[in-house]
Amino acid sequence: MTNTDSRTEFDAKAAETGANATRYFQEKAKAVGETDAARVHAIATDALSAFHDVIAKHQVTYEEYDALKAWIIRVGEDGEWPLFLDVFIEHAVEASVNADRRGSKGSIEGPFYVPGAPELGAEGTMPMRDDEPGTPLDFGGTVTDLDGDPLAGATVELWHCDDNGYYSQFAPGLPEWNLRGTFTTGADGRYLAHTIQPSPYQIPHDGATGAFIRTAGLHAWRPAHLHLKVVAPEHQLITTQLYFEAGDYLDSDVAAAVKPELVLSPTAKADGSGNEVTYDFILDPA
Ligand code: DHB
Ligand code: FE
Repeated sequence: MTNTDSRTEFDAKAAETGANATRYFQEKAKAVGETDAARVHAIATDALSAFHDVIAKHQVTYEEYDALKAWIIRVGEDGEWPLFLDVFIEHAVEASVNADRRGSKGSIEGPFYVPGAPELGAEGTMPMRDDEPGTPLDFGGTVTDLDGDPLAGATVELWHCDDNGYYSQFAPGLPEWNLRGTFTTGADGRYLAHTIQPSPYQIPHDGATGAFIRTAGLHAWRPAHLHLKVVAPEHQLITTQLYFEAGDYLDSDVAAAVKPELVLSPTAKADGSGNEVTYDFILDPA
């Protein structure tokens, strides 16, 4: 099957991607603790009253109210709540939660993280197909504390889509751990991943989220990005993303998750075998 064929096949399957994202999220949600009733009251009453204000401001009609109800039901039927919320809401949660960090900037996790990716040591090649399309990329650096001292035993989990914009375990037809790996730093705090550069990513758009995006006059694209979770003993986990200088959609990310500090500038390797770039993570103490 050519890549073109698989894209056509996958394009018809936002519901499948959505269903997978919902299934993974439900697994993770089992670990969510009790909600605090006083906070639920405070947040829910404010959220409802913000909604009421919008309705009053725009003089929303019964027809529009019913269209909203029908659409909300469809998002659930398509399994797209993880996709919709991570694109349109998560960035505000991330900004609030990480506001006081002094180390590396965070960004959204998105719906496609899977724990337990293969362990590759301090340096390794990401699981990929023999003919994995895309420009090879050497991505490495150091994990340090706020003083710049290297952190040994830090784990760097890296996951990203392929050259066609597909994530393993969510799009069909990819090896289970394709382009997902876990690196562990040694005494020098260094990690080095051999991978390929991901392409810009279009969120699944043939379901309810796509209908919303079209009707609201938005577009479905995210700029090309690497996803990361980095943590070390006695230091806080940072979940973030890294982007590529001069890439498409950097200024119009549908998920509003780009920060200037998170944009990489890869250079061509001297031997012509692809690109290389470094990024040093700085972790806040626990
Ligand atoms: C979505 C996908 C991503 O790869 C991402 O980083 C954020 C959101 C999504 O489809 O919702
Ligand atoms: Fe992503």
